[in-house]
Amino acid sequence: MTVNTALVDPFGRKVDYLRLSVTDRCNLRCVYCMAEDMTFLPRQQLLTLEELCDTAAAFVELGVRKIRLTGGEPLIRRDILSLVETLSSLPGLDELTMTSNGVMLPKMAQALKDAGLARLNISIDSLRAERFKSLTRVGDLAQVLVGIRAAVAAGFTKVKLNAVILAGFNDDEVLDLAHFAVDNGLDISFIEEMPLGEISSHSRSNTQISSEQLRQQLASEFSLLDTAETTGGPSRYFRVAHSPSKIGFISPMSNNFCSSCNRVRLTAQGRLLLCLGNEHSVDLRAILRRHPGDVACLKQHIIAAITKKPERHYFDPERTEIVRFMNMTGG
Ligand code: GTP
Ligand code: 5AD
Ligand code: SF4
Repeated sequence: MTVNTALVDPFGRKVDYLRLSVTDRCNLRCVYCMAEDMTFLPRQQLLTLEELCDTAAAFVELGVRKIRLTGGEPLIRRDILSLVETLSSLPGLDELTMTSNGVMLPKMAQALKDAGLARLNISIDSLRAERFKSLTRVGDLAQVLVGIRAAVAAGFTKVKLNAVILAGFNDDEVLDLAHFAVDNGLDISFIEEMPLGEISSHSRSNTQISSEQLRQQLASEFSLLDTAETTGGPSRYFRVAHSPSKIGFISPMSNNFCSSCNRVRLTAQGRLLLCLGNEHSVDLRAILRRHPGDVACLKQHIIAAITKKPERHYFDPERTEIVRFMNMTGG
């Protein structure tokens, strides 16, 4: 097969990973992600199932090899199984994955596996029921734990847990979370909190804790072996000695990984975001609706958009410059 060079940005980075947000709604309200009182998009503003499939197909024809479905919570979307079924059979796509909060997995894990989803990342920031409830404002930890078990029972391998660690909230659970992952043969990534969207529950400058601090905590109980393994995402992984598990660190605040960025995002309303930490975007929904069925036109606009991909993000925990909340962006 010839190498598709259509989606290479001005900094020489090849874009082969699309993160597709299918809804901005969520059944949780994590304090670092959302304000208490959120307004969600009216349904007619969301891309339809057909628009999502057409856009994903155009990206794959242009060289995208990995698609991750995100939200809000992607399993909230009613036609999610049809979407998974269609996308998983796109010729040329290597991997269709999803990031979920796990709440609906007890009911949906098997159907997702049967529809062709390859891999699942599940967010879990605490293993203590009361704390889990306060971090998510409404969540039931037991349900998510059943969800994780359901994913494994459905045959998903390489399930990865994601934990955002906030100093003073859950930084005393880093070892427990890692043991939980290792004991269950799962991978886990620890994520630094980013200043996306104005929140009132806490001041983000007080809750910052770096991946390096977490790694030092973990080194007291785990032997972490350097590895160059990558899933094509931003996690820097370590192998846990004598175990199949990997522990990863996603460090957007302390260690800028933009020089190897290979991804773009499509919001649920069809805005193509060239970078999580910048406001540049292109309205693909307008193009889809102005030129229905015109794949060539859509592709031209995608190719043009990639030339605007910013070089890097600049995050300052003292200042929230990006007014988009993460539920709009899709993680
Ligand atoms: P794998 O494919 O399993 O490696 O997953 P991934 O790390 O690509 O995706 P996941 O959904 O697990 O990403 C976890 C978190 O990493 C996201 O929720 C974001 O917080 C952060 N993240 C992912 N991509 C980017 C990025 O391009 N820039 C920044 N700043 N953060 C990112
Ligand atoms: N900073 C870092 N990660 C965040 N997520 C949501 N909001 C933020 C933030 N402000 C993560 C969640 C989940 C994914 C969907 O996005 O923990 O893993
Ligand atoms: Fe929902 Fe994920 Fe945001 Fe939590 S982090 S409120 S689970 S979208």
